[in-house]
Amino acid sequence: MINTSAFVEQLSEQGWYYQQNVIPGEWVTALADLCHKRTFLQAGVGQGLKNIINEAIRSDSISWIDPRETDPAVVYYLSRVDEIQQLLNREFYLGLNGFEGHFSRYPQGAFYKPHYDCFAQDKRRAVTLIFYINQNWLPENGGQLCLHLPEGKTVIEPVAGSMVCFLSEQILHEVLPTHTERMALTGWFVRHHGQDYFYS
Ligand code: OGA
Ligand code: MN
Repeated sequence: MINTSAFVEQLSEQGWYYQQNVIPGEWVTALADLCHKRTFLQAGVGQGLKNIINEAIRSDSISWIDPRETDPAVVYYLSRVDEIQQLLNREFYLGLNGFEGHFSRYPQGAFYKPHYDCFAQDKRRAVTLIFYINQNWLPENGGQLCLHLPEGKTVIEPVAGSMVCFLSEQILHEVLPTHTERMALTGWFVRHHGQDYFYS
């Protein structure tokens, strides 16, 4: 369960929120199993025609989620996303009306250098939401999410069942090199206008 009062308070005061035990163990297992079965493509940097593979910036692979997927684990994931979208719209009047999300896999040695999730040309991405599905994760595995905050850096362990949510335009962040395969479900709530399209 999400601690809604802490979520609202911390997101509005500091622009980010982290909580453990958001996803029950059996769903973490189902999502991790599914992650191992999916097809992944090496992730690029930049948007549209400017999307290029740059292994000096990021070295993860991604598998986009289609909202029409019927696997129970995906349906479960999208229901949790929906719950958070409703909470965000109710509390922050963000007018979020879309979501784009993917599984990500960081093989041993992979990382993602400091970046913002919002594209310079396209500010549709408003809120980033990440769920971690790494069972038996240990701090010595590396692979922490590092937030570059005004008061300094904060590291977040990508432990199974935990969630991090932040304002996409505000929070500079990176994934530190991982020493073990690292998996996550990463997505963005967007304000999407009539002429835009997703998942096509
Ligand atoms: C991203 C990202 C962070 C993480 O995919 O844009 O920053 O902890 N992911 O996986
Ligand atoms: Mn990011």
